[in-house]
Amino acid sequence: MRVSVDQAIELLNDGQPVALPTETVYGLAAALKDEDAIDDIFRLKGRPRNNPLIVHVSNIEMLGGLADHIPDEAKVLIKKFWPGPLTLVLPANQKAVPDSVRAGLPTAAFRQPQHKGTLEIIKAVGPLVMPSANLSGRPSATAPEHVEEDFGTDFPIVDVDWATAGIESTVITWHHGRAVTLRHGAITAEELEEVLGYPLQHLGKPEEGATPMSPGCLFRHYAPKAKLHLKGNPKDYPAVIGFSDRLYPMTCRFFSLGNSQHPEEAAEGLYDTLRQLDQAHITEAWVDMDFPRHGLWLAIADRLHRASEA
Ligand code: TXA
Ligand code: MG
Repeated sequence: MRVSVDQAIELLNDGQPVALPTETVYGLAAALKDEDAIDDIFRLKGRPRNNPLIVHVSNIEMLGGLADHIPDEAKVLIKKFWPGPLTLVLPANQKAVPDSVRAGLPTAAFRQPQHKGTLEIIKAVGPLVMPSANLSGRPSATAPEHVEEDFGTDFPIVDVDWATAGIESTVITWHHGRAVTLRHGAITAEELEEVLGYPLQHLGKPEEGATPMSPGCLFRHYAPKAKLHLKGNPKDYPAVIGFSDRLYPMTCRFFSLGNSQHPEEAAEGLYDTLRQLDQAHITEAWVDMDFPRHGLWLAIADRLHRASEA
């Protein structure tokens, strides 16, 4: 069910989750002040309770009341990249950010999204928690139809003809005084390094038994029902996910990620392509992973790896 910005404000104030557009993917929003609605978000998504949520703010002043400490470097990055797809994990004001949102951690994740309507909603309702608007484990939603696929046509969605970039925000934190990435995303490592002046370490999946810095890394994610094969030979599979400027001989079904020179095209269409596989009842597909491992490609490779995990 499509709703207006004003209706979304009413629903959220009334304790009801609403799907909202952001510049990355659609989010499933609940007011930070409403613990019951936050509980509904975990339940609706089937999200493990130990995977914390991102708190979305409308400006740095709102962040001030929720974070316990904002490193100087964080302030510089915020100035450069907010509003935008950069999420900062910072020590939380534990009274202001409920335990359930942080999954019991002393930190919380924060970002200011770029979408005008969504910012209006945050200004009116206050901070919002907003995981991606998909069932846990499924490809993220980059169109209202994807939200409907996962939550039904009656679910309220703010739809304002908005093109999403298709890849979630980059998540960073500070570790031993230096910024590190926890999730590759729409802001590239190169863009961050240019501001920071040093190379960013990526703290992804931890060694077995070690405590993860980013709980989200532990779960299978972004996956269609189809099994994705990132190695081997395309001719051995009933479908290929590849690039429009390349030829894949003897392929039965071809799903395009766009031109191999344009990572933005691949990012924008990635989750829709993964969802199309299921709509076409494809059970196995080979993925062309022959692309660079820098810039936006890094996040695309990460999502495909995670989507292929059994
Ligand atoms: O682009 C995005 O970030 C989208 C839009 C809707 O804003 N949201 C999104 O949320 O991708 P979600 O819930 O799908 O992913 C949040 C990620 C997870 O990997 C989670 O583990 C991590 O952020 N995260 C949240 N709080 C954290 C914390 N305190 N410490 C470490 N990682 C945290
Ligand atoms: Mg997600």
